[in-house]
Amino acid sequence: MGLKLEDYKLMVSEVRKVTDFVPKVGVVLGTGLGNFVNNVKVVVSIPYSEISNLPRSTNPAHQGKFIFGYFDDIPVVLMQGRVHYYEGFSSEEVTRHIRLMGFLGIEHLILTNAAGGVNFDYKPGDFMIINDHIDCFMPSPLRGENDDRIGTRFPDMSDPYSSSLNEKVYEKGLELNIPVHKGVFMQYPGPQFETKALIKTMRNMGADAVGMSTAIEAIVANHQGIKTIGITFISNLACGMSKNKISDEEVIIEAKKSEINFTKLLSEAIKIVYLDK
Ligand code: HPA
Repeated sequence: MGLKLEDYKLMVSEVRKVTDFVPKVGVVLGTGLGNFVNNVKVVVSIPYSEISNLPRSTNPAHQGKFIFGYFDDIPVVLMQGRVHYYEGFSSEEVTRHIRLMGFLGIEHLILTNAAGGVNFDYKPGDFMIINDHIDCFMPSPLRGENDDRIGTRFPDMSDPYSSSLNEKVYEKGLELNIPVHKGVFMQYPGPQFETKALIKTMRNMGADAVGMSTAIEAIVANHQGIKTIGITFISNLACGMSKNKISDEEVIIEAKKSEINFTKLLSEAIKIVYLDK
């Protein structure tokens, strides 16, 4: 059973006991990308463990806290660390953090992640603005009883990542000489990486990159009326596309190497979405 509006009101009141800060932009920082918090003037941080109903990350690369503060005078909340489906929680459970950010005031959401490049034109160190996603390997986070006060039973998914905002972020990336693509993201449940046969299948289905998060978060955000964009960091070529074995260490090492580009692209993206009305 999913949470109801009353459950979220309780969670909001728990946050409000700590801070009255109202964020306008929410950002989920993907694997290896958490250092972006160093660019934010922090007001307060709250671990997920201090809020009712929120699952905590078991992945040591994900710290598990909300960071409220200002980026360039823009009130933001960052999720330093997300919770993944492969940790054993349901799709609904791992997306509660997104809903809570919505109830705390965000109007725009930027989802970031590290992913494997499936498109032969992509290489490690590239970025992909998510144009669309394929979520057919994931149970829907909206499955079960719907709370109509939060969103409609059958939400439209024709523009889950705002195409107008995407275009602006993509153009900015090109202008800054950041290797950036626009493409289709596929969410895979994990935790094992994909097989070669699966990657071929995903490519035939139209995927350009694959990772273990994000699509279900975008679904929940759209359901709740939060305008969303997604930025994928290509940390490796997907299974079968290079001789290397894929490992989470490699993902983190590559993310570290591209930290400057990531910081530039995300900084511009925050400014772009904030200016959107
Ligand atoms: N597959 C799935 N998830 C990932 C990958 C990958 O190759 N790289 C980083 N996250």
